[in-house]
This record gives sequence, C-alpha cells and structure tokens, in this order.
Amino acid sequence: MTVAGEVVETETVNSGKPLVEVKGLRRVFDLSKPWLNRMIEREGRILLTAVDGVDFAIKEGETYALVGESGSGKSTIAKMAVGLLPPSAGSIMIDGTDVWGKKSQDTERRMRRKIQMIFQDPFASLNPRWRVGAIIAEPISAFGLISDPQDRAARVGELLSLVGLDPRDGQKFPHEFSGGQRQRIAIARALASEPKFIVCDEPTSALDVSVQAQVLNLLRDLQERLGLTYLFISHNLAVVRHVATRVGVLYLGRLVEEAPARDLFAAPQHPYTKMLLEAVPDIDMEGKDRQSIAGEIPNPITPPPGCHFHPRCPVRRVECDVKIPLPLPVGDATVRCHLFDPSP
Ligand SMILES: Nc1ncnc2c1ncn2[C@@H]1O[C@H](COP(=O)(O)OP(=O)(O)OP(=O)(O)O)[C@@H](O)[C@H]1O
Ligand SMILES: [Mg+2]
Repeated sequence: MTVAGEVVETETVNSGKPLVEVKGLRRVFDLSKPWLNRMIEREGRILLTAVDGVDFAIKEGETYALVGESGSGKSTIAKMAVGLLPPSAGSIMIDGTDVWGKKSQDTERRMRRKIQMIFQDPFASLNPRWRVGAIIAEPISAFGLISDPQDRAARVGELLSLVGLDPRDGQKFPHEFSGGQRQRIAIARALASEPKFIVCDEPTSALDVSVQAQVLNLLRDLQERLGLTYLFISHNLAVVRHVATRVGVLYLGRLVEEAPARDLFAAPQHPYTKMLLEAVPDIDMEGKDRQSIAGEIPNPITPPPGCHFHPRCPVRRVECDVKIPLPLPVGDATVRCHLFDPSP
C-alpha cells in the first residue's frame, strides 16, 4: 500500500527467509528487596527466569502460536518482541532489524511502524475519552503517514470497513461498542500503521465464545488480504488449532516442543504437549474422556532442576531430575525431552 507523503520503502523480497527470528531469548526479573533490607534481613537475591533460552522463527505470512499455562512466559516474550520490554539475553530480528540493537532514529521509527500488538482487553487499550476515529487516526499522524485531515479521515473509514465496522462508527466512543466490536477497533488501530508483523496476546480470551470465532476469522481474513505475519499467544489450544501454522509449547519459560501445527495436533511428542491436548475441550475430541492437566505449575522462582516438567511427567526417567533436556529434532518438530535423547 502506498501512502501520501511517505517515502516508498524497498519491500523485502520473500525468499522463504523468516520475517521474525528469535534466538536465545531470555528474561530474568529481579524480585529482590532493596540492598539494605537484604543485608539487615540476611536475605539473598530473588530472581525469576520468566523466559529461558527461547528460539523460534516465523516465516512471512504465517501464524506462529505460543501456548502454555498461566505464567509460562507468553506475554513476556510478546513484550520483548514488540520492543516494550528489554531481554536479559538473546535477540529478536524482525525483517532484518534487531529490535533491541542500536539503530538510527529513522530505522527505529520504520521498525516500530512494522510491528503492532493486539491485547486481550480491548477496552483497556482504547482511550475512553477519544472518539474511535481519533483513536485509529493517532498512529497515522504519529508516523507521519497522511498529513491531509480529509485523506486521513478517509483512511480511517477504510480501516473501519476493513475490520467489518461502519465508517460512521468513527464518530462514536469505545463504550458504545460490544467487546467484539471493540477488539475490531483495536485491530483497525493496529493496522493503521500498515504493519507487517502483529503480536496478538490472547486477543479473544475476554470475548464470548460466539464472538471469538468471528474475531479469529477476521484476523485470518486480514492475514490473507494484507500478507500479515502473526505471533499468536493463547492458553487455549482449541483456538490455536484454528489459526496456527506452527506452534511452540512453553513450560516455565522453556519451549518444550515446537512443530508445524498439523503435526503437533496429530502427533504430539512431548509428554506435556500430550497432557495439554488431552485437556482440550474441542468438538473433534467429543466422545473421548477429557483429562484435566495433572499437578500444579511449580513456583517459577524455584523451578524443579533438570527438566522443569519432571515432577508432573508420567514417563519421567532418572536423568530428568538432574539433566536439562536439549532441543532435539523429531521429524519436523523440535522437542526438549530425554525420551528422545539417543545418549541419555
Ligand atoms: N514485570 C514483572 N515483574 C516480575 N515478574 C514478572 C513480571 N512480568 C511477568 N513476571 C513473571 O514472569 C512469569 C511469566 O509471566 P507472563 O506474564 O509472561 O506469563 P503468561 O504466560 O503470559 O501468563 P498468562 O497466561 O497468565 O498471561 C510469571 O511467573 C510472572 O509472574
Ligand atoms: Mg499473558
């Protein structure tokens, strides 16, 4: 899409190279009390490793889903990927630019334009005092995409139509819309800067089930029309199944399995993935006894040594308690589990 007043950028040719490349990503949160308190109370530092050496890549036009229970590090990865939270280690390359690398203001601006995020709660991400039109127009002005007010208003109308709303809805305030419509507004705003990559963090979790499907279909439709690349975060595997090209399964900050979506759902490899799938309430799975996920997620400040999953694992071996499993190729998947280790 070309926009008035914008210097046309050379589009990267899609050579099958990933648009997004995450390598060795790590984030540690320091939960320690201030130094003086620690000295008086003779306490050590308290560190929480929320993301622990995560690698994945997303090809242009694909949807990479990150799944995992609450606290597994999904949102922390999302925030690092969009530039909201600095990593403790590792890198995130988006369209050839290192999100956290040193760069000129111009490169930074161009990169920011290409990356957008959609959050779980559309109401919290929309300014209640602004009319919807102004909310959507804001990124257009901020990135200096269209300077003429009439052209800008026309573009806002176009974006509203694109997400299935009426162009006249721009006159209304966010509270005049339903949850699903508000998420559409948030999507229109995200699209306003003409991004290539959108991080969707639980975009439908706050919506009624019937509305969830409509918003998911809209996201898929927009992906096809605009060639968007998504990082899609959800704890709901039934939702992921409908949208994902590839899936990464997180457990306490580590990717335990990573595979093409079809393979992951047809033949999960990691015992944790199997457990998650057995708990999915999906129409396809009707008639099957649905299992709940056994055991509690351990405290992330003191995660179990070796494989973090070993205390809950039904097929655990002796080495699992002490040795961290390395990522191993299993068909088209990558699995971190000693079951696949040829030399345990
Ligand atoms: N700003 C922060 N300060 C300290 N700890 C944090 C912070 N943000 C996240 N954490 C911790 O990091 C871990 C991962 O959190 P994160 O929000 O990424 O999980 P999540 O997978 O998105 O969970 P949910 O499904 O509940 O949204 C959790 O143990 C959380 O308590
Ligand atoms: Mg989260």
